[in-house]
Amino acid sequence: MSRRPYIAGNWKMNKTGFEAEDFVFALLPQIAGDDIAEVVICAPFTALSNVIDSSRGTRIKVAAQNMHEAESGAFTGEVSAGMLRDIDVRAVVLGHSERRQYFNETDEALAAKVVVALENDLEPILCVGETDAQREANETEAVLKTQVETALANVPAEKLGDVVIAYEPVWAIGTGKTATNELAQEACAFIRSLLDPGAADKVRILYGGSMKPENAAELLAQPDIDGGLIGGASLKADDFAALVAAGDAAA
Ligand code: 13P
Repeated sequence: MSRRPYIAGNWKMNKTGFEAEDFVFALLPQIAGDDIAEVVICAPFTALSNVIDSSRGTRIKVAAQNMHEAESGAFTGEVSAGMLRDIDVRAVVLGHSERRQYFNETDEALAAKVVVALENDLEPILCVGETDAQREANETEAVLKTQVETALANVPAEKLGDVVIAYEPVWAIGTGKTATNELAQEACAFIRSLLDPGAADKVRILYGGSMKPENAAELLAQPDIDGGLIGGASLKADDFAALVAAGDAAA
């Protein structure tokens, strides 16, 4: 089964609203041709509306980088799925390793967040991945299994195909040290093997970790890598346009 390539830029804590608009205006003419790959921009909360308004009617889908699982309530500093939908956000990154590492994000909280995102028509982009120490200790598969199975435990079978999973080995994030094609493929295939066979063929699995225009084509050529979640190289419109072109070519 062929899965639609998925190219997502995760801006992390970068860009003001004005800078976000500038980026969109620079990007749009460069990606106007083929509407093959899905193009997703994961913007900080304060720039979401800027990206949404400046890209309405184009192929860009806008994602947030986190959300709280409750509908509303006394959770100072948090944002709910309903609030994101209210401004036309359509996807949300969940469980990024930086949130696991610095903000105590747990697999258990993620299990609730994934379900709530789906209930609110937000496409969850669930991030998983091992640290350097875990890989050295031969724990990669055990870590991925726990992360994937716990976070997806409550997803109804008919909704599983709507989940996007990003394999992001922590040691490759922001380090310039990309996983080899073989290693990335192996991990993504392992993640797919954990999914219910009824939906496994539908789920897009992305690679993330120092992906850039120079290495995207060969990573995207791997049978179980359906796209990329890109940090640093998504901050410049020209680089991100080249990554979208690689996604278009990979279909
Ligand atoms: P880099 O592409 O900067 O390594 O970041 C990857 C990432 O964390 C995307 O979510």
